[in-house]
Amino acid sequence: MTVKRFCDNLTVSSGILGEQLKFRNGKVAQNRFLKAALTERVSTYDPENPQKHGLPTEFILNLYDKWGHGKFGTILTGNVLVDPTNLESAGNAIIFKEGDGEERRALFSKWAKNMKQDGALAVVQLSHGGRQTPITVEPNPWSASDVKLSGERRFTAFGQPVPLSVEQIKTQVIDRFVYAAKFAYETGFDGVELHGAHGYLLAQFTSPTTNKRTDQYGGSIENRQRIILEIYDAIRAEIPVSTGFLVGIKTNSVEFQEQGTTVDDAKEMCQVYEDKGFDFVELSGGTYEKLAFHHMRDSTRNREAFFLEFAEKIRPVFKNTIVYLTGGFRTVKAMVEAIENGATQGIGLGRPITAEPDLPKKILEGSVASSIKNALDENDFGITNLASNTQMQQMGRNSYQQASENPTYGISNFSDEETVKRYREALVEYTVFMKTMASQNKPIHGVLVFEGIQQA
Ligand SMILES: Cc1cc2nc3c(=O)[nH]c(=O)nc-3n(C[C@H](O)[C@H](O)[C@H](O)COP(=O)(O)O)c2cc1C
Repeated sequence: MTVKRFCDNLTVSSGILGEQLKFRNGKVAQNRFLKAALTERVSTYDPENPQKHGLPTEFILNLYDKWGHGKFGTILTGNVLVDPTNLESAGNAIIFKEGDGEERRALFSKWAKNMKQDGALAVVQLSHGGRQTPITVEPNPWSASDVKLSGERRFTAFGQPVPLSVEQIKTQVIDRFVYAAKFAYETGFDGVELHGAHGYLLAQFTSPTTNKRTDQYGGSIENRQRIILEIYDAIRAEIPVSTGFLVGIKTNSVEFQEQGTTVDDAKEMCQVYEDKGFDFVELSGGTYEKLAFHHMRDSTRNREAFFLEFAEKIRPVFKNTIVYLTGGFRTVKAMVEAIENGATQGIGLGRPITAEPDLPKKILEGSVASSIKNALDENDFGITNLASNTQMQQMGRNSYQQASENPTYGISNFSDEETVKRYREALVEYTVFMKTMASQNKPIHGVLVFEGIQQA
């Protein structure tokens, strides 16, 4: 079955996207493409047994075997959690002292190796769930303050957060990020990205909506950002710039919430990242309270990238730090224009590359003009997110070799109406499952498994 695309006619050269990006620490990405972090949710889940909790599985190794043949400049893992109790979801991969051992190190080493097969840099996204941890995973997660997240995700509520004391900021957060960064360095990764966006713990500190502290970690932007800079310094004390190990951050360019991070705040924070020495900043936006993975403004609709106008405002602060922009890119034309106009240096891709793990390769060869156009509602992050996880599970069923070196082998074609109809039916059943799990106070581990009509 052939696929439908956003556009078929290539009207611009993709050449600029193939240019290298040189980071300030000397490391070089072979092109401008970034595989954005996409949580996998298929690592082991066994909180009672630290040695077996949050271990990457064969699905993950296979998944990155495919992306590792897709010609990315840089590949990020999905969020890898640094605290075994404060997860984004059951099934997250985790790096933590209590769970360290030969098996975990061997799996992470294999993961890094698979990512780097065709020259990409392999970077671990390190995160801490904080108050966005599902209540079924941890009823009392950590946060900057005691501001509970109302609402539900996957029909599951969130717990009552406990504000971290100054001492706990050091032991429960900074030390854990540093431990995980060192583990990533020692297992062969090229760097880490701190997840400072989308409302997770570090964003809970930077955003005035969730940080009500009156000590040195609250109040002014300088204070709200302090924890991130302390993590940076502590990582660099262990893994100096001279090692070539990258330290970057994903940050919100805007939060679209009353009292949330504004673009001016974000610009001020980015200036500090530039001055501090961060190798790269990935610009994104939104939180669980206000998701922003669709067009919030008509002005950006034609230019595709959701946060483009914010990136344009922030971009001038970056002199030595490389900037990536993620969210909404679908056509080669929009990607090329965003670079030519100076809004960004790198292009982050999320959902398009779960349908097509080798999309950068095809773009650089000039064989496609855009990503695949789903028959799903592109503005509905809920369903497109589930569908991406489903496609990732399908990708992870076999290795690149087992798939006869065809990275799209076995992936459902969601540009096909019939497949989408069947997926919606499967979703009805999965919804019952999710509701049942939530009502029994059980965490939802894994993703919606689906047998769909494959791409050609
Ligand atoms: C299935 C899925 C999982 C995601 N997991 C993460 C994650 O672990 N960390 C993160 O920073 N963003 C995550 N995101 C957000 C993406 O990195 C990206 O910012 C967002 O999807 C917008 O880009 P896109 O329009 O190219 O998909 C996820 C998105 C999807 C669809």
